[in-house]
Amino acid sequence: MLTLPTIETSRLRLRPPAESDLPAMPAVFNDPDIYAYTRNIPHPYGDAEARAALERYARLAHEGRGLVLFPEERATGAMVGLVVLAIERDKNEAELGYAIGRAWWGKGYATEASRALLEYGFKALGLDRIHAHAMVRNPASARVLAKLGMKPVGVAPGKCEKDGEHHDAHAFMIDRLAWDGGTAG
Ligand SMILES: CC(C)(COP(=O)(O)OP(=O)(O)OC[C@H]1O[C@@H](n2cnc3c(N)ncnc32)[C@H](O)[C@@H]1OP(=O)(O)O)[C@@H](O)C(=O)NCCC(=O)NCCS
Repeated sequence: MLTLPTIETSRLRLRPPAESDLPAMPAVFNDPDIYAYTRNIPHPYGDAEARAALERYARLAHEGRGLVLFPEERATGAMVGLVVLAIERDKNEAELGYAIGRAWWGKGYATEASRALLEYGFKALGLDRIHAHAMVRNPASARVLAKLGMKPVGVAPGKCEKDGEHHDAHAFMIDRLAWDGGTAG
């Protein structure tokens, strides 16, 4: 069982998904580009998909397998996307993931929210290592991972499966010592 925290950053509040997010979720996540670059966000994404996602996030937390938080803009209260740590207990590692609604791209929100989640993963959860993948065809995501101070560790051929096709992905990694070393700023 994972306890879901609320984390404040300079512009965002990362907080657990809630029933009250149901009306906003399709507007944020119903996007073919979000579908194309992520593993578990469907398209089309309507009310039923939103409800199924909330149930899935609750199940992941209950089983200790995933920590999903929704960043909201502190200035407006708007929910702008999601960040996730998929926990691999046996290795004391996690995989970072994120999606930001198109209306908020280019503001640094993916980086700001992910940085806070990495901090939480290392300091509060005591993880040893966090890794992430960005499809080679998704340079914005690779840029986010580089800005976080994660180290590129090569291209994983065919790592990301989408509609039966396997896409190459840049693999990134950071361990707790490197994070403590101040790469996060
Ligand atoms: C990728 C994504 C999360 C980025 O969110 P964001 O909040 O706009 O990200 P940030 O603003 O923190 O950083 C984006 C960086 O990518 C850069 N970028 C954007 N498009 C780019 C492109 N086509 N090529 C190279 N860099 C690009 C931006 O300039 C910025 O870098 P900078 O700060 O050095 O200028 C968002 O576009 C998204 O949700 N996409 C769909 C889902 C997805 O790809 N999820 C990640 C799965 S691994």
